[in-house]
Amino acid sequence: MRHGILFLFLLLSPGLARAFQPTQVDKKVDSLLSLMTLEEKVGQMNQYNGFWEVTGPAPKDGDAAKKYNHLRKGLVGSMLNVTGTENVRAVQKIAVEETRLGIPLLIGYDVIHGFKTLSPVPLAEAASWDLEAIRKSAEVAALEASAAGINWTFAPMVDISRDARWGRVMEGAGEDPYLGSQIAFARVKGFQGSDLTLPHTILATAKHFAGYGFSESGRDYNTVDVGTTTLYNDILPPFQAALEADVKTFMNSFNILNGIPATGNSFLQREILKGKWDFDGLMVSDWGSIGEMVAHGFAADGKHAAQLALNAGSDMDMESALYVEHLVALVKEGKVKESDVNDAVRRILKLKFVLGLFEDPYRYCDPTREAEITGSKAIREAVLDMAQKSIVLLKNENSLLPLPKSGKKIALIGKLATDKDSPLGSWRAMVAPNSAVSVLEGLQALGTHSIKVAQGPVIFEGSANFATEVKVNVTDKSGMEEAILAAKGAEVVVMVLGEHGFQSGEARSRTDLGLPGLQQELLEKVYAVNPNIVLVLMNGRPLTLEWADKHIPAIVEAWQLGSESGTAIARVLYGDYNPSGRLPMTFPRNVGQLPLYYNYKPTGRPNDPGQNLVFWSHYMDSPNSPLYPFGYGLSYTTFTYSNLQISQPTLQKGGSIEVQVVLKNTGKRTGKETVQLYIQDPVASISRPVRELKSFQQVELKSGESKTVTITLTEKDLGFFSPEGAWVVEPGLFKVFVGGDSGASMKVEFQYE
Ligand code: NOJ
Repeated sequence: MRHGILFLFLLLSPGLARAFQPTQVDKKVDSLLSLMTLEEKVGQMNQYNGFWEVTGPAPKDGDAAKKYNHLRKGLVGSMLNVTGTENVRAVQKIAVEETRLGIPLLIGYDVIHGFKTLSPVPLAEAASWDLEAIRKSAEVAALEASAAGINWTFAPMVDISRDARWGRVMEGAGEDPYLGSQIAFARVKGFQGSDLTLPHTILATAKHFAGYGFSESGRDYNTVDVGTTTLYNDILPPFQAALEADVKTFMNSFNILNGIPATGNSFLQREILKGKWDFDGLMVSDWGSIGEMVAHGFAADGKHAAQLALNAGSDMDMESALYVEHLVALVKEGKVKESDVNDAVRRILKLKFVLGLFEDPYRYCDPTREAEITGSKAIREAVLDMAQKSIVLLKNENSLLPLPKSGKKIALIGKLATDKDSPLGSWRAMVAPNSAVSVLEGLQALGTHSIKVAQGPVIFEGSANFATEVKVNVTDKSGMEEAILAAKGAEVVVMVLGEHGFQSGEARSRTDLGLPGLQQELLEKVYAVNPNIVLVLMNGRPLTLEWADKHIPAIVEAWQLGSESGTAIARVLYGDYNPSGRLPMTFPRNVGQLPLYYNYKPTGRPNDPGQNLVFWSHYMDSPNSPLYPFGYGLSYTTFTYSNLQISQPTLQKGGSIEVQVVLKNTGKRTGKETVQLYIQDPVASISRPVRELKSFQQVELKSGESKTVTITLTEKDLGFFSPEGAWVVEPGLFKVFVGGDSGASMKVEFQYE
């Protein structure tokens, strides 16, 4: 075994990575670059999936053997899906000790909502509107993942989406660019912390650049065609926010955007990201997305795809193996500039310095730390806190909730009530299967009721995982009668219904957003014998719930809450935690309304009651309005808003204006309200949304307590991007709406001059 010469060179050179100023890092990067052959440079731009039992013998079979060979020759710059200190140390050792230059690897992984201990799925976390809790959740995910060898997460996904058919909405922050931007910022800060040389912080990735959430018909990987006003005003802001938080890497996306695959899109990657925005970090492709440009009909073959991707600004090739195969020839043929290769490699090497990997390539590989941190009490407490804050109370007629902790005959119905797996959701990293606290376990641990469990019919046949389809039972009704019987004999029925943990996520688009399988029938049959139902929903996306909303007295949106799911749900059902979540995405009445979102543009034919009965923008068979609007959520207490005021009638250029409202807790319990402020620019050079969220504050008040809430607006809250991408703030009237959801009706106005 020999040490790479570069590793020795770095060890002997004065100053270690932690002490480097950026210019010193740049100098180090450049001196390293000058030692590298073109092949070695291209190797740094190559990222492979974990391809062999790293702790076992080297593989003999074709592809894996080739990859292993590449690793030993210094032709791999990063690996993904290698986890655990032992495995990471093994691949790092090959890179450091067996290659000529000994350059350590970036170790990437999808740490989306935790590593071995899971927080709620990201959409659920977004429902908390609690930026500090969200930051903390990313921080503990980074803590646990970094202890297992990971130094780079492919998160946060900051794609805005307005279409609940798209399964990946579970992985984002919902439909709103403002909320999405705040959350993107918080998540990047959580993962990266303030010092990336510390072993518990990891590189974050803003993905997927760009437009992936706008896939036509909500079908994953499908075409995206959006105008530039949507691109600049709705899609890009969360990416800019991630950049403001100093995100170190971006990932491009699978989709075409207006005809050009994002991966080969120079406008997105070179002109906007690396040009206008001056991003000096790393752009990684999505999995195989360089190769997929052939299927898109954009590249003739793999070599052409590599050429297009590099020229467009993709720095690292995830799993297409096309850079490593073709870039050297492409440089020699003059189709790709060596200066562009150098630029990409600089970006990659810089991050390795920033992480301190040259100082100690095994800094994330301490098995003692791994054992101490994994599943620690502090991590479990943080994910429980996040889980209870993510729950949204959708309906609570006659204050059916909260339930007392004892003395009731409860029927607990539905397969998901005892399920310990589905609450983990999709993108579950290294969590053990069946390891979530179930609703039954949560209710039993925190209360002393007599609980009769009746699972009802099978919902999902067999077992599904990340790589297999979920099969839904629609024929076998056994279990239905037992559930009905249990409901008959109960005082309160708690029904836990919803989606399988792998029914949302990547490649999990759906055309029907009702309760899957026989669950709607079960709900209606149980209701017929006992309407005193608390419906707990477990799902990774908005569902269509019109029937339930009309009939069921209490509805709790509990999403997929991760490892502490059942405890969080029980805490809310029993009133130990007063629900404070608000929807980060509109819940439609039916799939036909999609895409549906609160910040739509006015049409030339809005509703004008009594004037135009037919020729206005509407459906013949459904209202335009959602079932539950963006920002909506109830509490066990009630709040009133009064005395909305504005500090002055005019906001001068460069100045600010204050909006004040008095919030009062008019109910019997302490509770948290999310005061939301929306703005409308009624006349502008381009048609502007009917309203846009511009600020929110979470305020906790005791029963009877009031507080004056003050929100400051500046001209930055009034502007927008023109179709050419220029930021403009136009003088004129602005309307301000304040309230508890996007339907807020209290209004004040001011002029901007
Ligand atoms: C494909 C997904 O689109 C991306 O988000 C993920 O990071 C990569 N696979 C790696 O797993």
